[in-house]
Amino acid sequence: TTDPLVLFMPSGKRGRFAKGTVVLDAARELGVYVESVCGGRATCGRCQVIVQEGNFAKHGITSANDHLSARGAKEERYERVRGLADGRRLSCSSTIEGDLVIDVPQDTVINAQVVRKAALDRVIERNPAVQLCYVELDEPDMHKPLGDLDRLKKMLEQDWHYHDLQVAPHLLHEVQKILRKGEWGVTAAIHRDGPTARPTIIALWPGLHNEAYGIACDIGSTTIAMHLVSLLSGRIVASSGASNPQIRFGEDLMSRVSYVMMNPNGREAMTTAVREAANELIGKVCAEGDVARDDILDMVFVGNPIMHHLFLGIDPTELGQAPFALAVSGAVDVPASTLDLSANAGARVYLLPCIAGHVGADSAAAALCEGPHRQDEMMMVVDVGTNAEIVLGNRDRVVAASSPTGPAFEGAEISSGQRAAPGAIERVRIDKDTLEPRFKIIGVDTWSDEDGFAEASAQLGVTGICGSAIIEVIAEMYLSGVISEDGVIDGALADKTPRILQNGRTWSYLLHDGTPRITVTQNDVRAIQLGKAALYAGIKLLMEKLGIDHVDRISLAGAFGTFIDPTYAMVLGLIPDCDLDKVKAVGNAAGHGALMALLNRDHRREIEDTVTHIEKIETALEPNFQRIFINAMALPNKVDPFPFLAQ
Ligand code: FES
Repeated sequence: TTDPLVLFMPSGKRGRFAKGTVVLDAARELGVYVESVCGGRATCGRCQVIVQEGNFAKHGITSANDHLSARGAKEERYERVRGLADGRRLSCSSTIEGDLVIDVPQDTVINAQVVRKAALDRVIERNPAVQLCYVELDEPDMHKPLGDLDRLKKMLEQDWHYHDLQVAPHLLHEVQKILRKGEWGVTAAIHRDGPTARPTIIALWPGLHNEAYGIACDIGSTTIAMHLVSLLSGRIVASSGASNPQIRFGEDLMSRVSYVMMNPNGREAMTTAVREAANELIGKVCAEGDVARDDILDMVFVGNPIMHHLFLGIDPTELGQAPFALAVSGAVDVPASTLDLSANAGARVYLLPCIAGHVGADSAAAALCEGPHRQDEMMMVVDVGTNAEIVLGNRDRVVAASSPTGPAFEGAEISSGQRAAPGAIERVRIDKDTLEPRFKIIGVDTWSDEDGFAEASAQLGVTGICGSAIIEVIAEMYLSGVISEDGVIDGALADKTPRILQNGRTWSYLLHDGTPRITVTQNDVRAIQLGKAALYAGIKLLMEKLGIDHVDRISLAGAFGTFIDPTYAMVLGLIPDCDLDKVKAVGNAAGHGALMALLNRDHRREIEDTVTHIEKIETALEPNFQRIFINAMALPNKVDPFPFLAQ
């Protein structure tokens, strides 16, 4: 007879084990991460698993609850005292008695909005960099003069198989008090990360300590977004955001670099501002999640290179000019106390690597989330702000670049542009025969109209156009013939409709005749053309580098991707031709990537390795940039075909 076959989900790892093997041990052996704080004493409850019942013919397994040993005394006691949800078992206290399919519950689910399809949920498997380990020590003995700390290390080595343990210095003067308070039972938090780093005891509590949390944070130049996550269950406990207080030193990145160059304490002021904001947010998510700051043991931060450097206290001046040298491009792992972050005294901070001087840890995190390096297909991840960061490739090769798109896509430098707020036009349709527009407006209910679009009327209270709608307005103007392929507003139409207005030597399209009057001017069209040509040129250079003329998948990250309709992005030629079903908005992919790195240290190794292999292209230095850029000024493009659009 052969040993029972055990399959762990969702990892899919499997193996044969002798009857009587403890499920937790089997998981360990296969490298399936199952939490265990109490070390199998059936007191922490963190090792819960679920047996899937049924016939899994594909795997040759018939799994049933009674293929697991019946509940023993320890598990019964846990159930009585703490309760066990239906179908859950303690893997440390049950043994394998037959073929099994075992579900390891993963609470972390990130969802990406898939355009035209249902939301796609993705599970992050956990393997955090910090582990809680409960141990019980013998009382000290005069005849064995080994120090308390040394005996603690010895126990951790014996019960938890750690070797060569280090101790965070601040624990040296606390260890004796904690051991006695816990009556020789203590929980140690052990940080183990990186192939060469020694495991380190970073925190210590008397008795069983059953809480450990982490922070995943995306520092954007305008907003900071943060998640508070349980490292033991993977559950996102609270999420919050705040605006980046560095805005008062300069609206965009380059003005912040100039602030540093012009002001003696500029760098310090901006570093302090962003760290204070992070601390405030930590306080906010802790309050919301009812979590003690002291239980935060690990944090992951991502940001563009300038945010990354300022957060670390590094002068970003070099990033403001060629050759855009990063002070440090590799991943950074430091104690949180060195960054003035208030959490547990031993908490750690990890920053993802930066890809290049313009393509930061945020792009690395977005790439980790979307995973072009995990695909056979050619996949592009693009995040558009005042710069576009583009990562393109597949499992064989990945390239990256940034392109200066300017602020037009965010609604700046557009005559009637405004941020997305009530009163802003967010969707537009223009009738091809009458050239009359219809709208959707933020905060105005137009759903009574047949397709949710309202006729233009002064009552609508329109105040401007938001960034995402500008793309749509100009695409609709193009589709209805108001503007030509070259982006010129056709003045001859003024005879046909009062919506075409003369504006000096050029023409404008009157979108809304109210107060204020909303027009799309020739300059607005030009600003969008310049932005989109820069974006497309960056993408195209990367495609040429890889020798491809077609992209299989496109992930649009960030706010831009969330609000823009991919069809219109393609009509204008912002993005290359692609099957529209394979273009998706992925939301805050950088934030999700940070979450992945927080919850699973293998993801840290994955992105560190990927980034070292990414080939970077400096778009401004490419001799072909000008040629591609000029062709990309046309709608959708002077030379490149868009067969998917024709369908
Ligand atoms: Fe603590 Fe199973 S490991 S209850």
